Amino acid sequence: MFCAAAVAAGILHTELSAQSVTPIMKAIVVHEYGGPEVLKYEDVPRPEPKEDQILVRVIAAGVNPVDEAGRSERSAKFFGITLPFVPGYDIAGIVEKTGGKITKFKTGDSVYAYLSLTNGGGYAEYALTTEREAAPKPKSLRNVDAAAVPVVALTAWQALIDTAKLSAGQTVLIHGGSGGVGTFAIQIAKARGAKVIATASTANQDFLKQLGADVAIDYTKTKFEDVAKNVDVVLDSVGKDTLARSYGVVKKGGFIVTLVARIDQAELDKHGIRGAALGVEPDSNELTEIGKLIDEKKIKVIVSQTFPLSEAIKAQEQFPKHSRFPKQSKHRNKSQPVTRAVKLF
Ligand SMILES: NC(=O)c1ccc[n+]([C@@H]2O[C@H](COP(=O)([O-])OP(=O)(O)OC[C@H]3O[C@@H](n4cnc5c(N)ncnc54)[C@H](OP(=O)(O)O)[C@@H]3O)[C@@H](O)[C@H]2O)c1
Repeated sequence: MFCAAAVAAGILHTELSAQSVTPIMKAIVVHEYGGPEVLKYEDVPRPEPKEDQILVRVIAAGVNPVDEAGRSERSAKFFGITLPFVPGYDIAGIVEKTGGKITKFKTGDSVYAYLSLTNGGGYAEYALTTEREAAPKPKSLRNVDAAAVPVVALTAWQALIDTAKLSAGQTVLIHGGSGGVGTFAIQIAKARGAKVIATASTANQDFLKQLGADVAIDYTKTKFEDVAKNVDVVLDSVGKDTLARSYGVVKKGGFIVTLVARIDQAELDKHGIRGAALGVEPDSNELTEIGKLIDEKKIKVIVSQTFPLSEAIKAQEQFPKHSRFPKQSKHRNKSQPVTRAVKLF
């Protein structure tokens, strides 16, 4: 595993620095659980790809709520993350080196990837990925935009297409439409030919429309169930009361998928609907499909802020204090109707 390798190599480097030839890189390392202040900007050994791995020179890495998972003991254990740990799951960059079993990518290729939660490693100058995780970077995107795509776009895709089987002509209610997942979910659903009802706060109502939502609901003023009725699919990224009230708006035989909670089987049975809780998985083929939609201009990518790697603390300070995955990460700056932040080198 990348982290364990980095740790072992890191100790080795400190002790044998005079003789070591291991290339060094800058990375953000988490050595202890805590708030964003535990993110340390350090020199660490550059990872070396194994047979089935690809070493990427990271040009940009996405910043997502899940990036804080390794800082919380409970979620770190849940995801199998061990300290010390380099956070970051979304990367875009150039293939530097490939392991012997890699056939789909070669040195110099532009790629983007969602790195598995256990491995992470994106907040660094170089990161390891695999053929299962990486896909060709959409040609129309800069690296900084491409890095904002993988985890949220894959989540939206796997929720709507793989899990809920959303089809043309159906109606979908998307909670948190202005968030990272929501912005892609709205656009993927529209590209699929569905009718979209989306929720967000007051400041983001125009934004929902710009993304293609047919109906925008301000959750601070209107109960969504007063507007959305008999929908085919609900995508929930909010949980709690929002999820509890969502079962009643799905038509019989419809589907509810949540990203942040357990599904209540009794509620499903009561309403004659189906449902599932989703945990997103890396998927190279799906990332390729998403990339095509981006290059065809059917999906636009919005980046809210960028940070140098050395300011990863500022990037993660956007998340609510004491937040713990899978708690809802409330949007930070209401004047900025976009949520994805990316760091640059
Ligand atoms: N299970 C998985 O595999 C998986 C994958 C990805 C993400 N997630 C989780 O899904 C959640 C969303 O992720 P994200 O990246 O989209 O987060 P995000 O970018 O922080 O967006 C969250 C959005 O939720 C909206 N929101 C807050 N309270 C709301 C409410 N009561 N009703 C409707 N919308 C509300 C906010 O909109 P306003 O700013 O307009 O209030 C914000 O745009 C996070 O908790 C994340 O950890 C889970």
